[in-house]
Amino acid sequence: MSINLIYKSILEAIIENINAGIHVVDHNSKTIFYNKFMSELEGLDIKEVMGKSILEIFPFLTEETSTVLTVLKTKKPIYLKNQTYLNTYGKQINTINSTIPFKISPTKYGALEIAKDITKEKELLKKLEILQQELASTDTNKKQIKGYTFKCIIGEDDGFLDTISFAKAASKSSSTVFIYGETGTGKELFAQSIHNESDRQNKPFIAQNCAALPETLLEGILFGTTKGSFTGAINRPGLFEQADGGTLLLDEINSMGLPLQAKLLRVLQEGFIRRLGGLTDIPCNVRIIATTNEEPMKAIKRNALRKDLYYRLNVINIRIPPLRNRKKDIPLLAEHFIKKYNIGLQKDVWDLSKEVQNSFLQYDWPGNVRELENIIESAMNMIDNEHILKPKHFSTKIKDLIIKSDEIEDINISLTEENTLDNVLNNIEKELIIKSLDESSFNITKAAKKLGIKRQSLQHKIKKHKIERK
Ligand SMILES: Nc1ncnc2c1ncn2[C@@H]1O[C@H](COP(=O)(O)OP(=O)(O)OP(=O)(O)O)[C@@H](O)[C@H]1O
Ligand SMILES: [Mg+2]
Repeated sequence: MSINLIYKSILEAIIENINAGIHVVDHNSKTIFYNKFMSELEGLDIKEVMGKSILEIFPFLTEETSTVLTVLKTKKPIYLKNQTYLNTYGKQINTINSTIPFKISPTKYGALEIAKDITKEKELLKKLEILQQELASTDTNKKQIKGYTFKCIIGEDDGFLDTISFAKAASKSSSTVFIYGETGTGKELFAQSIHNESDRQNKPFIAQNCAALPETLLEGILFGTTKGSFTGAINRPGLFEQADGGTLLLDEINSMGLPLQAKLLRVLQEGFIRRLGGLTDIPCNVRIIATTNEEPMKAIKRNALRKDLYYRLNVINIRIPPLRNRKKDIPLLAEHFIKKYNIGLQKDVWDLSKEVQNSFLQYDWPGNVRELENIIESAMNMIDNEHILKPKHFSTKIKDLIIKSDEIEDINISLTEENTLDNVLNNIEKELIIKSLDESSFNITKAAKKLGIKRQSLQHKIKKHKIERK
């Protein structure tokens, strides 16, 4: 193969595979090359463009506005020019173009235009700017500094009290903290309390939910941007710099993409950050508190959390138990929220009725303390000139529960040859036993009490129905 043919095929391979649009015209501005990338960018068919002049393809251009025509005339290159236009599908496209003249014969010049698509970067940049402005103008995160302290954490369950003591001890150090707890268990409450009890209390506390932003934006928000890191980006500090000397809460860290997790790990190990596109290492002194509402080992298994990052973050490990495992705290929390909303809503509520109290103890609170607070707030909006919160003040969900705990549901069963009375009764008995065991975490004494039968009798029935602990 001649050297020219080799060059030709190399060139063709580059033109077809390069991540940029390429449009080449001869001295008459007629297209002699138009690659697939450019065709997708501009929404034009390669066949429609080949052999046609620039003004035939883009009739809205003039000799002055077309970079290709300008270069053909001046024979001088135009580098890195920003262009914004609507393609044939009406989508706004942002590109950076370079247009370069090349010699065809001693007197004739053609032009080569290379376009880099920066539409996505532009869109991201816009979002990033809005977010950064919001952050700078409202400054809400920083205002939370004076938010929660350990005094705000209500609970008397032994396990929960241990968690509080452990968190208090954690506030005396600067090590990273990993908090795991289901939604609404108080992770943010603990994180703020740790900050406010630490010697960083007069420095910023900034919280960032990692699930709230797409990866590229989150990276810019956390580490900051430099001018030119992508088109139009300006020098802006990220949260690491803004939280300097203070605490940065990274909520739902398991929603952060793995590449960014790797970057975060590097920052934690080295103690320096680098703004996006920046060249300087900026030392950072920020205490990190990370949270998940998913069991961390599960998150690692499903590849949502890097194991190495987890172990780096998990210097101090706090697990907040779900409300259903510390039902002892429910009356106390209910009292606390009643007091809070007596003030907020100007009511004079004294207590929950017995039925409501019982149903609260039976309910398993998937939304934990937040759900309890919301349910009480909503009921207190319904009460007028009364002092006790009764079933009628609650929404359907909790009302259903109250009714279920007071009455046996209507039975709608027809007996058949196999479905004898004995079978049906046996099944009902088995279901009620399983339910009580479930609700009392398989504590036989408690379950027997609930069912109103003796412990021994329950044990006998468990054997009879072959019920096993899940
Ligand atoms: N032990 C507690 N004492 C008093 N209030 C509590 C307690 N636990 C949680 N709360 C209240 O419940 C609400 C939810 O708490 P928080 O926002 O800290 O939960 P979270 O675990 O961060 O939830 P999520 O995973 O959904 O972000 C808050 O209003 C908080 O004040
Ligand atoms: Mg939270």
